[in-house]
Amino acid sequence: MAKRWTRTRRRRERNLSCLVIRPAILLILLTCSAAAVSRSVWDGVFSKVQVRRGQTVYREECAKCHGENLTGGEDAPPLVGNAFLKKWQGKTAGDLFEVIRKTMPSEDPGTLSRRQYADIVAYILNTNDFPAGEKELDSASAALDEIRIELKR
Ligand code: HEC
Repeated sequence: MAKRWTRTRRRRERNLSCLVIRPAILLILLTCSAAAVSRSVWDGVFSKVQVRRGQTVYREECAKCHGENLTGGEDAPPLVGNAFLKKWQGKTAGDLFEVIRKTMPSEDPGTLSRRQYADIVAYILNTNDFPAGEKELDSASAALDEIRIELKR
């Protein structure tokens, strides 16, 4: 009688540990995979050196239409400020990179290297007051697609 009781209790304990441990493992896995895709423009995703390079290319290739300070021109929209950020909010650095690479400079789309386009994206993000970090913004789509553009931290 006593023996059977212990066995049932053990089984019950095993069931209980499954109930606790399995969801815990699942939660850890979910957190890890979420961490892999939850970088945002607030996480220091470009470097200061890169921003300076981007500024040089921007001045040569983009400033005549979008303005020295990215505030826009006669036809070209601003690349800085609330209207710009609201439009890009929820999209990724990869989306911005691709639009620029495929359509800009408008008279000669796609003529710059991926590195130069990434440098320009870094420069645009920096001008929109997102923080610089240690590493450069990667020019590979897979890496760029992981960085979300968010208005708030
Ligand atoms: C000859 C003028 C001209 C040049 C040079 C130019 N752009 Fe543009 N750009 C435009 C115009 C006009 C639009 C709006 C086009 C549209 O909405 O279809 C635009 C749109 C954009 C947009 C989309 C803005 C938004 O909020 O949707 C981005 C980003 C952009 N340009 C970046 C650049 C960058 C970076 C360069 C330099 C590599 C560049 N442009 C060079 C004229 C120009």
